[in-house]
Amino acid sequence: DWNMPDYISEAVEKIRAQVGSDEVILGLSGGVDSSVAAALIHRAIGDQLTCVFVDHGLLRKDEGKMVMDMFSKNLGVKVLRIDASDQFMGHLAGVNDPEQKRKIIGREFVEVFQEQAKQLTAARWLAQGTIYPDVIESAGKGKKGQTIKSHHNVGGLPETLNLKLLEPLRELFKDEVRKLGVALGLPHDMVYRHPFPGPGLGVRILGEVKREFADLLREADAIFIEELRKTPFEVPHVPGIDAGKAPTNWYEATSQAFAVFLPVKSVGVMGDGRTYEYVVALRAVQTLDFMTAQWAHLPHELLGKVSNRIINEVRGINRVVYDISGKPPATIEWE
Ligand code: XMP
Repeated sequence: DWNMPDYISEAVEKIRAQVGSDEVILGLSGGVDSSVAAALIHRAIGDQLTCVFVDHGLLRKDEGKMVMDMFSKNLGVKVLRIDASDQFMGHLAGVNDPEQKRKIIGREFVEVFQEQAKQLTAARWLAQGTIYPDVIESAGKGKKGQTIKSHHNVGGLPETLNLKLLEPLRELFKDEVRKLGVALGLPHDMVYRHPFPGPGLGVRILGEVKREFADLLREADAIFIEELRKTPFEVPHVPGIDAGKAPTNWYEATSQAFAVFLPVKSVGVMGDGRTYEYVVALRAVQTLDFMTAQWAHLPHELLGKVSNRIINEVRGINRVVYDISGKPPATIEWE
């Protein structure tokens, strides 16, 4: 009952009416939401859109190249790639608190944008891939009255940032955002990638963020994702049910899966030697709306293979654990 072509024309008209001939800048994070927002806005206003892709040093393995290929090469979107990893790492040094880290990453994003905006003198709008669940969660209050988790892409832009906010996905749920992305011509695999939080690996490295930790986590995470994609998902045959849309591998059979870096050292043994290295936790969940989630019952063989590969291939990790907590009471991310 959701008519996609109509929805797109309406959304396009709305964006055109809203921004007129103004220039728009958008922060591309590598995630599904900002990518779909970019594609939709590009459809509406073409070269009036400039994307700023901030590499904060907290992206997944090979993510930067992938984003540039998809948008710049394939879609002809104007994208500026900014390597700001030194700046982000510098400000995150010594900071342990999750909300503090989110605030710093959010603040640095705004700063990087501001710098770009100054150069793009015609820019009047800042576009963001905020979706409906972000709006709800940021407004939600925990038991003690505090915000459960702040999302750096919602609200709180400083007055000094002389840009108006353009958020064309604000009313959409994740599945609608994905359908929209496909309809706009984004590659299926990209659109059906698991969501990735704005603060990136910054909230998947518990406590203080260090470049060394990010490098280890990137490798471990890439191995986990690769094995999930490679491992077939056996759909039980149900007569009369169309299996055509069923997931074919464990990546598709999970809603979000990733590795988490635990800055804890434990003892291991490798060859003749004793090791004393860090721990990685694997997290994989199934959910429809990301408000509640179940931990995924991944096959033990798959978990075993991922664990072996991480411990053998990632020097610095000697122990892998699997997270079997549901949401609630745990959240999907560890921070
Ligand atoms: P939680 O951990 O709250 O995550 O169960 C729910 C969904 O939100 C994503 N998430 C974030 N996305 N900025 C984002 O853009 C954030 O700070 C943030 N924190 C969590 C998370 O990856 C999951 O999809």
